[in-house]
This record gives sequence, structure tokens and C-alpha cells, in this order.
Amino acid sequence: MNVFRGHSVAKYLVLEVAVFFAYLVYGTIRNLDLLDYIISKHFNNSIDELPLPILYILRIAVFQIYFCDIVTTPAAVHTSVDLARVFGHAGLARLVNAVLRKLPENFDDIPIPSKEKDLFSYLSIRYSIPKWILQEFVQRFGEEQLEDFALSVSEIPFLSIRTNLMLTNREELEKRLKKIGIEAQHLTPIPEELSLNSTYLLTDCPLMRQGLYTIQDPASMLSVHALDPQPNDIILDICSAPGTKTTHIAEFTRNQSKIFSVEIHPGRIQRIYENIHRLKCKNIYPVCSSGTYLPFPDETFDRILLDAPCSGLGTLRRNPDIKYNIRQESLQKLSKLQKAILTEACRVCKKGGVIVYSVCTFTKDETLNVVNEFVEEQKLILKNAPELLDPWKIQTGQYQTIPKNLWDGFFLTVFQKP
Ligand SMILES: C[S@@+](CC[C@H](N)C(=O)[O-])C[C@H]1O[C@@H](n2cnc3c(N)ncnc32)[C@H](O)[C@@H]1O
Repeated sequence: MNVFRGHSVAKYLVLEVAVFFAYLVYGTIRNLDLLDYIISKHFNNSIDELPLPILYILRIAVFQIYFCDIVTTPAAVHTSVDLARVFGHAGLARLVNAVLRKLPENFDDIPIPSKEKDLFSYLSIRYSIPKWILQEFVQRFGEEQLEDFALSVSEIPFLSIRTNLMLTNREELEKRLKKIGIEAQHLTPIPEELSLNSTYLLTDCPLMRQGLYTIQDPASMLSVHALDPQPNDIILDICSAPGTKTTHIAEFTRNQSKIFSVEIHPGRIQRIYENIHRLKCKNIYPVCSSGTYLPFPDETFDRILLDAPCSGLGTLRRNPDIKYNIRQESLQKLSKLQKAILTEACRVCKKGGVIVYSVCTFTKDETLNVVNEFVEEQKLILKNAPELLDPWKIQTGQYQTIPKNLWDGFFLTVFQKP
């Protein structure tokens, strides 16, 4: 707990509560379908009939009972019954008590469909993943890795940071983090990456405020390595807020390139400015525009990064709500938007210039299909990225990380305009 060194006792307690609260909220959302399944098996009517606050109280209670070692079952039941009395009435408190007391003591005694008889139903309920997402995964990677994927979706992800190599180096940052109680390790081939298996306080850390690092998944760091920007390049970053990759490009070229950073939402442009100032980046020009109609003449840029809007299915551990909010029908629409922005990127790219297309997902519609159609229409060349990306190469110029351990699921393609 020396991670809290330097904080007052009051702040320490507030942070402890915040960490626990985040654990409860994220854990409950990660396991939402499973929790509803368990509640419905121990409630005589449909759970849709429960008042929403009571359903929320039951979900959090069941999560604590089966997944939260630091809360005992009697404590979880007791608190939930009290909450039901406050947010409902005595009758609802009795109902919460009755449902929770009916739960089996051991998680293994919950009647989940058998893995052997129906793998998809088992994984879908056990790991709260809609079946269509499992099918999308199988379409890309086959059934062999499916269970690993499902398991990874329910994990608490590692936290990685990108060292700002303009202001420090990795070893120095590692030492300075250690001094304030944060143990970080270099775990990937990416030179600026450091990772830690806790989520403590990184955003509330003076070293972050001084611009020494950015919180970023290693898979997302690969995009800029694939772009391989060079000093004096004129670069376009499309779909750029909050500027994680824009600032990475600036750090990569030690502020020696000129970067136009395009984002459609005016409110998110402010986030780009904040990151530019915090990380002491220069020569970045944020522009509010749609990537489908770029305010630049033809053949302006040496290199273009398009980190396109996508379904985000490669980041389900970090953004568990996506599983329930995104619909399979949206994939076609997203893929149409991705192709439209790529086409515009191609217009403003110089002859011989490079375009990197990146998405944090794995669906065929948003990855292979976009690339195949785009290459065909625009007669582009697929070009290999620097060797650093070889471990993730799936074919010439195309790279995929599978969501697991340190990695979110990213897909990257490098095109060259002939
Ligand atoms: C995946 S996020 C980008 C993350 C960013 N590249 C980074 O590394 O920080 C996608 C961004 O695209 C923006 N966006 C969505 N549609 C867009 C469009 N048509 N043109 C430009 N930006 C768009 C969203 O507002 C969002 O900020």
C-alpha cells in the first residue's frame, strides 16, 4: 500500500473507497448477463418486473457474493437489504433478503448450460458476452481461441503507460515511479512501454501531470510505430481526440514533424490541447472537421494515420458496457464510414505517401473487408510496417493483436499510395 505514500490519511481513505467502488462497478458491468441469469434462477417472476434500483442492488450483491473476496456473504446481504429499504420499502427489503439467501454457497452449483453440450451458450452466460460477438470472433480466429477470448473479456486488464521519450527515458521513469510506490515493468518489444498490474492512482500522479507518461494500451502504441513518422514529415491524424496518438507521433519525431490533428467533435478538441500542453508537444494543429470532408488540398500529407471510429470489440475488458450497447447491425454502417474516411485520406495523401488504418476491433466487416475493398477500389499497395510489428503480422501490411493479457485487440494496415 506504499502506493499511497505522500497522500494524507484522509486522501488515502478516499482513494481506497474509490478503488473499491470502481472494482464493484466495473465487475458488475463485466458480469451483467451472468448476474441477471443467477438472479432470475432464484426469483419466481421475471426480473423485468423488479424496480430498477432493486435490480441494481441485487446485481451488485451477487457480484460481491461470488467475485469479491474482501466482502463476506453476510455483509453483502446485510448491506443490500438495508439499501433496498432505503431505495424501496420494507417489502422489497424482504424480497432482496429472500433472493440472496436462496443462492447456492458455491459458484459451481449455479446451473449454467454445459460447456460440452453447448459451448456458445455456456460462454455467453458464464462470461456475459452476446452470442453474436462470439460468432464474430470465430469468423476471424476460429473456435480454438474462443474460450481464451471469453475469459480475457472478464479479466481486469493490465495498465500500461507510454514513456514520453522527449522528457525522460524508460529506466528513469521506472525509478521515479518506484520512489512513489508504483512498480512498473517493461514487458513488450515496444521501447516506450511500461506496464503494471494495478490501476492505482496513475491519473492522480505528479509524474503524469509533469507529462512524463500517457496511459495507453501497448496495442494502441503499435499504430504510430506502423506509421513510422520521420522528422520534417507533414502528417495527418484523422479521428484524433483525445490526442493519444497525435502526441505519440510528436514524441516519436521529437517535435520535428508537423501534425494536423482532425476530430469531428468540437468538445473533444479541448482534450487534444490538454494533452499537447501536458506532454510539451509542439507543431500540432488541431482541426475540427469530419474525416469524410477534409479541409485540405489533394496530395498534402507524407503520412496519414486513421484511427477510425469502430465497434471497439477489442477493448471489452476496459469498456465492458460496449458488449451490451453495440448491435451487430451497426457493423455495416461503421464499415461504410471507415471506407469513406479512408477514401478521403487517400485523396489528401501524397503520391508515395503512407496511410495507416487502425481500429480497436476484430470484426471482418471493419477489418479485412474494409481493407480488401479499399485496396481494390484505390489500387493501393499494402506495405510492411517496421520489423517491431512482425510478431503481429497476419499478411503483407496487415497486423492484428488478439485481446489477452497485456494486449487489447487492434487491427492495423499500412497502405502506400503509388
Ligand atoms: C477511436 S477514437 C480515436 C482515438 C484517438 N485516435 C487517440 O489515439 O486518442 C475515434 C475518434 O473519432 C472521432 N470521430 C468519429 N467520427 C468521425 C469523423 N467522421 N471524422 C472525424 N472524427 C470522427 C470520435 O469523436 C473519436 O474521438
